[in-house]
Amino acid sequence: MMQAAKLEGLCNETTARWFYAWYSPFYDRLQKYFSSPHMREKGLDLADVRGRDLRVLDVGAGTGTLTLQILGRGVEPANVVMLDQSTGMLEQAKRKPQLAAVRKVLGDAQDLPFADESFDRVTSSGAIYYWPEPVRAMREQLRVLKPGGRALAIGTLQPSALGIRVLAQTFNRFPTEEQYLQWFRDAGFTDVRTVNVANPWNEAQFAIAVVGTRPAAGADGGAPRAPARIGARARESPGPLGLALLAVRYVLAMAAFALIGPIQILVASRHFKKVRAE
Ligand SMILES: C[S@@+](CC[C@H](N)C(=O)[O-])C[C@H]1O[C@@H](n2cnc3c(N)ncnc32)[C@H](O)[C@@H]1O
Repeated sequence: MMQAAKLEGLCNETTARWFYAWYSPFYDRLQKYFSSPHMREKGLDLADVRGRDLRVLDVGAGTGTLTLQILGRGVEPANVVMLDQSTGMLEQAKRKPQLAAVRKVLGDAQDLPFADESFDRVTSSGAIYYWPEPVRAMREQLRVLKPGGRALAIGTLQPSALGIRVLAQTFNRFPTEEQYLQWFRDAGFTDVRTVNVANPWNEAQFAIAVVGTRPAAGADGGAPRAPARIGARARESPGPLGLALLAVRYVLAMAAFALIGPIQILVASRHFKKVRAE
């Protein structure tokens, strides 16, 4: 029997690229129905993202939703870097004057094109579950963080209702809290902390913010060594059969999105209407 976990529709570089190629022009208009600034602020608090001189990398930064909130905390735009694999999403970010001074890099979260120990914080929101190798991606984040630096991942959790869970996992990977923790620990992060976050219109469905720290000292108490660069990741070349399977997976993911997307939009719209009426 095919396990729900195996569906994980867009958890693949190619299918994620296909999705954001057409979705990027609509992203900013629709994103407010799927996640809220409040959720991201709780994550940024947990990672202690504040201060002009902090050097911050935002991975899977997309159109800059989280990046803008990072700037809102006083971080100097010239100290912030956005990385994303979608040209469409970065094009949208480039249209925002507030992000003009932020460097935008096209690249893969699992193979970061930055020198060791370049950043004080690495953040991601709504991105980790697209990465087929999350531990590799988190190890890369550990490498580019300075000793004592912190990584933050904000992501959705597995819905508890079976029907919604199957739909959600057909669309993408929806990890459990244990999986998030394991990814951080396997990558070498210590002091891994979490906080549950939720959209005000659906407080029963939690998402999570996870923060881990790159150890400030080595096992002998001396200066820690930077983790070795993992090396270039083999580029995906699926072949005709692999491509056909990816296409089937993608169509299933889009069908699931066509079902759960409007439900989310309806529930959130009702909440916004109620707030406006109060
Ligand atoms: C749901 S959007 C989140 C965007 C933004 N962080 C936010 O909070 O609105 C997910 C983003 O992850 C990016 N992404 C997916 N896989 C990636 C990868 N392997 N490397 C870099 N970016 C990736 C997508 O292109 C997309 O922009």
